[in-house]
Amino acid sequence: MTSRDHREVITVADPAALATTAADRLMARIDANSGRIATCLAGGSSPKRLYQLLATASYRSRIPWSRMHWFIGDERFVPTDNPLNNMAMARKTFLDQCAPPSNVHAIPTDAASPDESARRYQDELKSFYGAASLDPAKPLFDLVLMGVGPDGHTASLFPGDPAVDETERWVVGVAKAHVEPFVPRVTLTLPVLASCREMLFEVSGPEKHAILTRVLGGENLPASRAQSAFETIWLVDRAALPENFRGK
Ligand code: 6PG
Repeated sequence: MTSRDHREVITVADPAALATTAADRLMARIDANSGRIATCLAGGSSPKRLYQLLATASYRSRIPWSRMHWFIGDERFVPTDNPLNNMAMARKTFLDQCAPPSNVHAIPTDAASPDESARRYQDELKSFYGAASLDPAKPLFDLVLMGVGPDGHTASLFPGDPAVDETERWVVGVAKAHVEPFVPRVTLTLPVLASCREMLFEVSGPEKHAILTRVLGGENLPASRAQSAFETIWLVDRAALPENFRGK
């Protein structure tokens, strides 16, 4: 089912089906690329089940870990031993047991400030990409995982924050978060997140019903504006699905 602006909405029964469907989409991206594969992970709670699944035998044995590189779309500017740290969650859930450490590209929260951290991560992304500007025909990422917050934020791009309109810098510091956890953030910007073969939103639970209705209704929110140059998929479980998408 495609919304007005070419975002595809895929509905699944529950959180377990959400994780399995997301894992299978990652596997399809892997099958489509015989070279180096770059995945941009999401923070928050929604992707955790997917991460757990990737560490299970049924997926782990099929993933070419030496060709896989793992980035993160945003980070809470807290030390890596802080439970709020997004990449620390991903490391603990699957990366530490599966991925070569040099293939895990975390946002450096040991920097003097979120802006300094952003500069360093931008340098790392550009060196990985091999150019200082993005070529629309050569996406940086194979897959970008995303979530949506209750206010319509995605990554750490909050409604009304100038970071949402950033078009030059690839990564920016965000001094003030608009929702919990109220810690400074570092986030990739929309043009960089869009540089992917597939952008995959995972959205689950009745608490996301209201914001999903607004986002898929076309309201001008960061999560609405986040789109891939190629494929944008909203993977939604039944509990989160807006009325006007039910039964379609
Ligand atoms: C973060 C995330 C953020 C998240 C949404 C949804 O650092 O918090 O990157 O953008 O994706 O807030 O969070 P949940 O998945 O926990 O609902």
